[in-house]
Amino acid sequence: MYNHPLISYVEEAQGIGMTSRQIIDALVSAGWHTHDLTNIFLDHIESYRKPVIAEFGENIVTVRGISKIYGKTIRALDDVSLDVKRGSVTALLGPNGAGKTTLVRILATLLTPEHGVAHVAGFNVVDDAQKLRSIIGLAGQYAAVDETLTGYENLEMVGRLYHLPAPVARQRAEELLHQFNLGDAKDRILKTYSGGMRRRLDLAASLVIRPRILFLDEPTTGLDPRGRFALWHVIRELVKDGTTVLLTTQYLEEADQLAHDIFVIDHGRIIAQGTADELKKQVGGDVLELHVTNHNFVNEAANLVAKFGIELPHTNEDTDIVTMPVNGGASVLVEVVRELDNADIKINDIVLRRPSLNDVFMKLTGHSAE
Ligand SMILES: Nc1ncnc2c1ncn2[C@@H]1O[C@H](COP(=O)(O)OP(=O)(O)OP(=O)(O)O)[C@@H](O)[C@H]1O
Ligand SMILES: [Mg+2]
Repeated sequence: MYNHPLISYVEEAQGIGMTSRQIIDALVSAGWHTHDLTNIFLDHIESYRKPVIAEFGENIVTVRGISKIYGKTIRALDDVSLDVKRGSVTALLGPNGAGKTTLVRILATLLTPEHGVAHVAGFNVVDDAQKLRSIIGLAGQYAAVDETLTGYENLEMVGRLYHLPAPVARQRAEELLHQFNLGDAKDRILKTYSGGMRRRLDLAASLVIRPRILFLDEPTTGLDPRGRFALWHVIRELVKDGTTVLLTTQYLEEADQLAHDIFVIDHGRIIAQGTADELKKQVGGDVLELHVTNHNFVNEAANLVAKFGIELPHTNEDTDIVTMPVNGGASVLVEVVRELDNADIKINDIVLRRPSLNDVFMKLTGHSAE
C-alpha cells in the first residue's frame, strides 16, 4: 500500500507550496494510477493526525460528568463518565430513550452539554470542535445522505467536503461502494435504495476519510441478519486496522459479539460497565427459564418457583416465560418441575442456561432491554 518515493515526492511538492490538486495532476500525467494516489493522500492525512492522537495515551475518548438537558426538564444525560480505549470496540447499550444518541452527538461535536467535559483524541469536544471534526467519522442513527444523489455521488461529495482532491475522492467512492457491496447500485439515486442499502452507504460515507475513531449510532438497526453479520465483519476489519469504534446498540447480542467494553445506559445514567463476561458474572449462577403453557398461570408459576431462586423471578406476560437466577445446577430443575407438577401447572419447556446480557439488564433495571 505504501509507496515511499511517492510520499517523499508529495512532501517535497507540498513543501514548495503546490496544492493537492497540482500534485495529483502532476503525478497522474507522470503515469501514476489514482489508486496509489488515494492511499498516499489518505495516509498523508493520517500522518498529520498521528502525533495528536499519540499524545493521548490509552483512552482515545474520555467523558467526565456530562449532563445534557433538553428544554428545561428533559435530562437526557445525567452525570455520565466513561473511557474508550484506543483500538477497542466499546458499546453503549441501552433501551429507547436511554440517551445513546445524545452522547454520540456530543462526542461528534453536534451538541453541547450543559455540564461536564469530554475529550476525543485529545480534543475538547466543545472548544476544539472544528479540529475534531476532521478526524472522526460518524454514522448517525438516521442516514445523513442526500436522497437525490446517487450512491457514488454521495460518497464523492463527502470526500470533497473533507477536501480530498477530486480524483482521490472518486477513487475512494469506488472502493467503498465495492467494499459495501453497492457496486451495482452506485449510479442509482438513493430514493431507490432499500433501508439496508442506505445503512451501508451511510457507514461507507463515515469511512471516506479513514477515520481513526468512528462513532456508530445503532449501525445495524433495521438490517436483516445477513446485513447485520456483514456489517459486524466490516467493523471487525476496521478495528484490526487500528480504528477505534464507539457504537450504540439496543441489541445485547451485538454488544456481546463486537464490544470489548460495554457501558449499560438507562435514563441517562451509566448503570454498569465491564466486558460481556464481567457483566454476566454480576448475575451470578445460572438462569432458569421456563415457558408456561397456559398464560393464566404465569404469575402463579413465578410465585411457586421463587423460593428456589437467588433473586425474584421475572415474568414476561407476552411470551409467558419466567426467568430467574439460580444456584445449584440441575437439582434445581428437578425441584422446580416437581413443584409445578404438584400444582398442576403445565410447562412447554424448561432450561438452565448461562446468564445473557438481557439478564444483566433485568437485574440492574428491573425491566428487559429487548
Ligand atoms: N431534541 C430533543 N428535544 C427534546 N428531547 C429530546 C431531544 N432529543 C432527545 N430527547 C429526549 O432525550 C432522551 C434521550 O434521547 P436519545 O435520543 O439520546 O436516546 P437513545 O438512547 O438514542 O434512544 P433510541 O434507542 O430510541 O435511539 C429521550 O427522553 C428523548 O425523548
Ligand atoms: Mg438513538
